[in-house]
Amino acid sequence: MSVHPKTSTLMRRGAEFLGSEHAILCGAMSWVSERNLVSAISNAGGFGVIACGAMTPELLDAEIAGTKALTDKPFGVNLITMHPQLFDLIDVCARHAVGHVVLAGGIPPKGSVEAIKAFGAKVIVFAPTLALAKKLLRSGGDALVIEGMEAGGHIGPVATSVLAQEFLPALAEDYIVFVAGGIGRGEAMAGYLEMGAAGVQLGTRFACATESIAHPDFKKAFFRANARDAVASVQVDPRLPVIPVRALKNSGTELFTAKQREVAQLLDSGKVEMGEAQLEIEHYWAGALRRAVIDGDVENGSLMAGQSVGMVSKEEPVADIIAQLMQESEAALSRR
Ligand SMILES: Cc1cc2nc3c(=O)[nH]c(=O)nc-3n(C[C@H](O)[C@H](O)[C@H](O)COP(=O)(O)O)c2cc1C
Repeated sequence: MSVHPKTSTLMRRGAEFLGSEHAILCGAMSWVSERNLVSAISNAGGFGVIACGAMTPELLDAEIAGTKALTDKPFGVNLITMHPQLFDLIDVCARHAVGHVVLAGGIPPKGSVEAIKAFGAKVIVFAPTLALAKKLLRSGGDALVIEGMEAGGHIGPVATSVLAQEFLPALAEDYIVFVAGGIGRGEAMAGYLEMGAAGVQLGTRFACATESIAHPDFKKAFFRANARDAVASVQVDPRLPVIPVRALKNSGTELFTAKQREVAQLLDSGKVEMGEAQLEIEHYWAGALRRAVIDGDVENGSLMAGQSVGMVSKEEPVADIIAQLMQESEAALSRR
């Protein structure tokens, strides 16, 4: 008998789909979600996901092998759809028989979902609108993550609470849907499970876990921050659409504004094409996040964080965070 019977019952479909004890995913976080955090999450009964980000196929290969050495539990790999070597990365996942691939960052390119399913893995997709979600789920996506604007990292314009009301009644009966963005405690998790979610995905709450390799200064910045410090980036040029990024306010936030102006000027002068300009912006983020997470440059780097950062106040082992979430959820459901 589970110690969290009500929560576990609501999570059953999601946990079966993931092959984990609890349907709690730690969303992939570039530079943060590497072998140590990913294996710790999976070993604690959650579901860890490696962030491939801009890694080469060789680096991804080593990271998957390193993760496998630390856990025999299932974990996933998050691939960014615009990666120029997406299909080589899928081949790496195939060689390792990765069970779940998350396709993030845009509409999956032609053939990518098929290539993943061909080696027997499950495909998890993101979708910003209900129409697109239906299309992706009908054309091979096995599960969906809806992610609201409270989240850390790249975000859409709609709040999690609204996405949940729009997507869950329409999809939750027939499909596996995970809810992400702004979840800091188990009571909120319970609410989305009751609405039909098969599970949840958290990032910010896990970023500073004991097992996370993030620099101590990165972690300190999280512990000090309040919800209102995690702000969305602003777009400075209407012709250069950039996906907003939620991060803690610092000099890096201003550097990004300057970077956009610089890229917009290159666009004006015809020195770069739009696709190239947008890719340059994405490279900027990857570099800035690395500076903060790995080097601990919390002034000029990017401190990507969601609004739930105000609920992150100390370093805790992943197993404790998961236990708290489960207990809070169970207590809430028991009071109903
Ligand atoms: C530091 C950081 C880096 C992230 N990097 C990625 C990424 O590389 N790919 C991705 O799909 N999501 C990324 N995310 C989003 C998370 O996977 C997750 O969906 C999100 O953090 C959930 O919302 P929360 O932060 O409110 O818990 C990142 C989030 C953070 C905080």
